[in-house]
Amino acid sequence: MGLTEGAFRLRLNELVLQNFRNYESLSFFPAAGINILHGKNGSGKTSLLEAIYYLAVGSSQRGGRETELVTWGKDFFRVKGVVALASEQHEIEYRFHAGTKKVLVDGIAQTRLGDATPVLTSVFFSPDDLRLIKGAPAVRRRFLDIALSQVSARYRKLLSQYHRALLQRNNLLRFEGPRAAGALLQIWEEQLAEFGSRLILFRMRALQELKPLAAQAHREMAGGSEDLELQYAASVGEIEGEIQQLEQVYLNSLIECRSTDIQRGHTTIGPHRDELGILINGHEVRIYGSQGQQRTAALSLRIAEFWFLHAQLGRKPVLLLDDVLSELDEQRRLALLARLAASSSGQTFVTGTDPQRMLGIPTAQAAVFRVTSGSLQREG
Ligand SMILES: Nc1ncnc2c1ncn2[C@@H]1O[C@H](COP(=O)(O)OP(=O)(O)OP(=O)(O)O)[C@@H](O)[C@H]1O
Ligand SMILES: [Mg+2]
Repeated sequence: MGLTEGAFRLRLNELVLQNFRNYESLSFFPAAGINILHGKNGSGKTSLLEAIYYLAVGSSQRGGRETELVTWGKDFFRVKGVVALASEQHEIEYRFHAGTKKVLVDGIAQTRLGDATPVLTSVFFSPDDLRLIKGAPAVRRRFLDIALSQVSARYRKLLSQYHRALLQRNNLLRFEGPRAAGALLQIWEEQLAEFGSRLILFRMRALQELKPLAAQAHREMAGGSEDLELQYAASVGEIEGEIQQLEQVYLNSLIECRSTDIQRGHTTIGPHRDELGILINGHEVRIYGSQGQQRTAALSLRIAEFWFLHAQLGRKPVLLLDDVLSELDEQRRLALLARLAASSSGQTFVTGTDPQRMLGIPTAQAAVFRVTSGSLQREG
């Protein structure tokens, strides 16, 4: 390993959990390289990765509410991570109590959640990832939002500004209906056009980066005959040209949509309604793809996310592989392992019920932990 590689290594040194899922109390010191976590169904493998992901993203990859994360019968949870990057070490902590979430960086409470500098970056590979392909458009928008939020504070801010304006316009539409004054609507429409057009540009630029990465990952797993393509479909109309132009097109579309929106009681166009199209050889994978193609496409998206974050931040995100190795057939698993090995200078967490099925992982370099109903034991 070269010096420069080591200098930008991101590593979770310690994870502390209190009342998180089936972990009432845990202090875990992972290894720098590959961490293998094995245990029976329901022992707490996914929950552990979920906690690490929570530190990076501030929400669960399962998409549930915070109250679901609190150990049954308890009334708060706490997740803390000690993260090292180069010679620096930072602490990030989330606390949830009585419906309120707090984030502390190095012991200091952050006034606005979104302002916290991301200390940890992470990508979660889950057997549930098929939802990226087969699920509702919201799943794919969330994929883009999370990737972008991990690299850009500006994106996080735009996203919250956009949602605030959206809520205001929707309230007017819903509660005032046809009585909603045009001038009042326009105030929020101008804001939606300003923030929304910037969000769209961010997403489209990210997609330019993600496209070749996803296509390459897919080719490596499926062979050269399949061409994976990603397309952004903006609901506000044709997106091209300068930001000012885009803002104008956006605003006009909103005004045109007023009567429909009043009827429906909400805003029907904007980045909250856009779609990320995923195609193989020109056909929507969601509709036409075989099971295997859909799985491979989902995996390709995640791999693309990993390399995108790496390129944007100059360090490898912490890789979370939940039960995915046992799900794939031989050829694909090997390809994934090759990728994993290539990224071995980053920190990785791999779970599975059977350590034998995780063969192929160079165990000599890995730390092995056994998970038993909310506790961890190091085995090797
Ligand atoms: N809020 C909660 N409080 C307490 N226990 C919970 C909570 N939410 C989930 N659980 C339980 O925690 C246990 C661990 O779940 P987890 O999904 O982490 O298991 P796993 O080891 O990944 O299992 P599998 O191999 O089946 O994927 C399960 O028994 C689950 O029912
Ligand atoms: Mg699991």
